[in-house]
Amino acid sequence: MLQYGGTIVITLAVVIYWYITKTYSYWKNRNVITPKPVPFFGNWKEAAFRRKTKGVIFEEIYKQFPNQKVVGVYRMTTPCLLIRDLDIIKHVMIKDFDLFVDRGVEFSKEGLGANLFHADGELWRTLRNQFTPIFTTSKLKNMLHLMTERGDKFVQYIESFQNSEQEIHGLVQKYTIATIAACAFGLDFDNMEDKLPILKKVDKMILTPTYSIELDMLFPGILKKLNSSLFPKFVTNFFFNMVRQIISERNNTPSSRKDFMDLLIELKNKGEMQKTRRNEAETKTLEITESLIAAQAFVFYIAGYETSATTMTFLLYELARNLDVQDKLIAEIDDVISKHNGQITYECLTDMVYLDKVFKETLRMYSIVDPLQRNAVADYKVPGTNVVVKKGQTILVSPRGIHKDPSLYPEPEKFDPERFSTENSANRHPCAYMPFGIGPRNCIGMRFAQTQSRVCIAKLLSKFRIEPSTNTQKKMEYEPNRLLIAPAGGIYVNIVKRK
Ligand code: HEM
Repeated sequence: MLQYGGTIVITLAVVIYWYITKTYSYWKNRNVITPKPVPFFGNWKEAAFRRKTKGVIFEEIYKQFPNQKVVGVYRMTTPCLLIRDLDIIKHVMIKDFDLFVDRGVEFSKEGLGANLFHADGELWRTLRNQFTPIFTTSKLKNMLHLMTERGDKFVQYIESFQNSEQEIHGLVQKYTIATIAACAFGLDFDNMEDKLPILKKVDKMILTPTYSIELDMLFPGILKKLNSSLFPKFVTNFFFNMVRQIISERNNTPSSRKDFMDLLIELKNKGEMQKTRRNEAETKTLEITESLIAAQAFVFYIAGYETSATTMTFLLYELARNLDVQDKLIAEIDDVISKHNGQITYECLTDMVYLDKVFKETLRMYSIVDPLQRNAVADYKVPGTNVVVKKGQTILVSPRGIHKDPSLYPEPEKFDPERFSTENSANRHPCAYMPFGIGPRNCIGMRFAQTQSRVCIAKLLSKFRIEPSTNTQKKMEYEPNRLLIAPAGGIYVNIVKRK
């Protein structure tokens, strides 16, 4: 008996050893350099233990191999390719985009799964085509008054504080939630104290990574096969109920607001939309279900508020640390607003060129959605190398790695908005800066984010200065247990009334 037991243990050990050696020799067999993988976790161990955020992990791998065009990595046991070379990135993300349409985050399309961010292939093309017109300049101009009203209320709210020291991530979230609620859904979330507990719960449930991600890295495609969702029932119900309520309040008819919800109601009433296909000869339609509508409401809500809130948090943190930059910015804001008769119009925001540079430099240092990823729809020989990415394999790009590469941005830890002067920007490779991603699948809400953030910063700095407090961190630590990059424990600064 004992003898059999020993044989089983030895056989099992040999099988596991064979499996691990085989799995982690994938890139070595193809002469692609890799950071040393850890059995079972590959290069994902620190993320799996929620000790580091994934953006930082890929930034470190990017830095580790300064002379490589591509680096092989293992997310748990799955081989993926990190692309470092900017020309190759341009090929994959732009020129050969048709071979890399999908992000490759596959799970059930029921519930909230069929949203624009997670959608693949035809579904993605169709949705992207439908929703792109929401973000035209004229639509943004129409929404501007909703943003400036929220900005005024935000400033009034800050004026009511007894203490100057504040945690700014939670604070700015209040503005961005109120703005996206008003602009996209026509909802009044301005006095949101009663709604905060439920909104916080939704935020935590969506933005805390679950272990289904690691499961899918161990067994690619398992979530799709099991028809499993990434989102808890509570979140799904929250968005279903929200859209049902708005549709019923608008009597199933688009209102005069011409907002995101109106577009969804129009689509719902049509019952179907024509699919956008590569092969135009064939036409197909896509049924518009309640779940398709709720999925889009979900992604616009969550992407709409959190990314801009985190960006502004980092921006204000850098202003507290770089008072000379802040002085220059305040001088520009005062000057431009007075030239526009005290009104924040769209043109007024466009005239704030230094604010634009400060915003860009913030996103260089603190890229929020990181890494970028695409899945190959067919085998693909990576240009300029002998490496072939197999159909279904994921390629990764590290904006953080690129943005902090000293060969592209000297002294990368220095906050210097002048890196984004017209001349300096023109001299850079088009793929050297991509906080909003790049190519046809880049961020659809980029201009909305820029506009809502500029309004908030201009309104805030018209009345207040941001100064370091005793609790302002000297070194930025990121929250490892969050899907988007965010400061661990928030950021504390003093918000002081300007004289
Ligand atoms: C500073 C704020 C923001 C940042 C840094 C940001 C960044 C990004 C990035 C990096 C991507 C992936 C792009 C790629 O893979 O190439 C993305 C996608 C996306 N973002 Fe944003 N985003 C921001 C604000 C917004 C806002 C305000 C909205 C909506 C109102 C939004 C909606 C989306 C959607 C729907 C996608 C998926 C697009 C697609 O797959 O077609 N984002 N964003």
